[in-house]
Amino acid sequence: MLASSIGIATGLLLASSPVPAQAAYDLVKDYSGQTFFDGWEFYGHYDNLTNGDTNFVNQSASAPLAYINDAGNAIIKVSQEEVLYPNKRDSVRIQTNDAYDIGSVWTFDVDHVPSGCSVWGALWSQAKDWPSGGEIDTWEAVNLMEYNQMALHTTSGCEAQNSSSSDEYSATLLNANCDKDANFNSGCNALDPKTTSAGQALANAGGGVWATEYAATGIKIWHFERSAVPTDLSSNASSIDPTAWGTPTYFVPTSSCNIEQHFAAQHLVIDITLCGDWAGSNATLEQTGCALTTQPLCYTQYVLNASNYDNAYFEIPSVRVYQDSSVSHSNSDSSNSSSSSSTNSSSSGSGSNASTSKTGTNGAVSRSPANGILAAFATGLALVGWTLLA
Ligand SMILES: *[C@@H]1O[C@H](CO)[C@@H](O)[C@H](O)[C@H]1NC(C)=O
Ligand SMILES: *[C@@H]1O[C@H](CO)[C@@H](O)[C@H](O)[C@H]1NC(C)=O
Ligand SMILES: *[C@@H]1O[C@H](CO)[C@@H](O)[C@H](O)[C@H]1NC(C)=O
Ligand SMILES: *[C@@H]1O[C@H](CO)[C@@H](O)[C@H](O)[C@H]1NC(C)=O
Ligand SMILES: *[C@@H]1O[C@H](CO)[C@@H](O)[C@H](O)[C@H]1NC(C)=O
Ligand SMILES: *[C@@H]1O[C@H](CO)[C@@H](O)[C@H](O)[C@H]1NC(C)=O
Ligand SMILES: *[C@@H]1O[C@H](CO)[C@@H](O)[C@H](O)[C@H]1NC(C)=O
Ligand SMILES: *[C@@H]1O[C@H](CO)[C@@H](O)[C@H](O)[C@H]1NC(C)=O
Repeated sequence: MLASSIGIATGLLLASSPVPAQAAYDLVKDYSGQTFFDGWEFYGHYDNLTNGDTNFVNQSASAPLAYINDAGNAIIKVSQEEVLYPNKRDSVRIQTNDAYDIGSVWTFDVDHVPSGCSVWGALWSQAKDWPSGGEIDTWEAVNLMEYNQMALHTTSGCEAQNSSSSDEYSATLLNANCDKDANFNSGCNALDPKTTSAGQALANAGGGVWATEYAATGIKIWHFERSAVPTDLSSNASSIDPTAWGTPTYFVPTSSCNIEQHFAAQHLVIDITLCGDWAGSNATLEQTGCALTTQPLCYTQYVLNASNYDNAYFEIPSVRVYQDSSVSHSNSDSSNSSSSSSTNSSSSGSGSNASTSKTGTNGAVSRSPANGILAAFATGLALVGWTLLA
């Protein structure tokens, strides 16, 4: 069965895309089915990263919130147990043990994403050392946002460009500077124009697949609605070809952001927190459909009331990683990139911002595009993401 499905997929691939063989990426890791949660580390501590009102469960306590459902899909969700003041609500944050270096593509096949007032979910990645090794936010939304907001976060000297004929993408660029010190660490962020990229509309459309290509030529993110997933991805082909996928949703080319200098091997992360730096600010709550009415805090109005979390879950058929076989990979933090002469990815430990613990500290900041959306609002751009809300 496996052989024949690969055969069919390869046939279709060849028929529809006569591209050079070096464009292909080969499957190296498949997080799916009963073994989905193998190879991830559970955070096991309260959210000391983004100031959310969650306790991220450890692996031994994770069964009620991180499990495989009857359809064979991974569920990652917020607890709906009763929570009494001043306690935090249980949720999940997991990160891959492996780190995937330059020359990798990862996909998130998603049937449902978290939404609801105070809810902040994300499918993303970061290097062991932040910000020197960069962060790639493939899917992220807070509260009742109807659009996915993608972003890169880096050290200075990395910028996105607006979509152009040579480097075309479909998202609306909000902030071009990826530097964590610019625009209150909004990163270079962009909104997917499709309502099927977030919230209930995504689930109603049957979900979709996100693919992130981390290559020396640039970082691309594609969002495919379920009805438009390329055959190589929908068929579980052992080899995929992004050059046949068409215009990406977002693209930051190496001409404006030297990828080898600003990014190191990425650990994939899936998490849902509540309130915190982005979702929980009064301004963001107001802008994203969740203005406080009965209580002074995001925590007291929402977190203590379990009925707010009916939709606070991911349903994920698979997360897969593919790598360019013409590049040598090691899938560890110290892996060498395709051209070790120009990478700084393993430089670390000396600067005050480069220690492992800073991944947490700065990861916190990095996960707080709160001000990013505020900054975006200042320019009127984020209105694209919000005023279209019904
Ligand atoms: C996991 O978390 C539970 C609930 O907080 C706790 O009782 C248990 O000791 C933890 N287990 C480990 C191995 O840390
Ligand atoms: C990118 O171009 C779009 C369309 O012209 C424009 O609305 C947007 O403001 C631009 N973004 C930035 C960050 O310049
Ligand atoms: C996808 O293919 C890989 C090998 O190519 C296999 O290990 C895995 O079980 C397949 N997954 C599914 C869901 O068919
Ligand atoms: C809990 O939240 C629901 C909406 O999610 C609301 O209808 C209900 O009134 C809230 N309950 C309390 C006690 O605030
Ligand atoms: C990285 O490259 C250096 C120099 O070529 C080599 O000595 C080292 O073993 C490589 N490390 C890994 C993890 O491949
Ligand atoms: C590594 O980073 C340093 C400091 O940012 C820079 O001066 C140097 O040119 C970089 N080295 C390479 C090989 O890119
Ligand atoms: C560390 O971060 C601070 C504040 O973001 C910045 O001013 C400083 O230059 C960084 N230091 C290094 C060594 O990167
Ligand atoms: C978060 O808590 C963990 C466990 O105590 C600790 O190792 C880590 O350094 C903390 N991170 C921050 C940013 O405080």
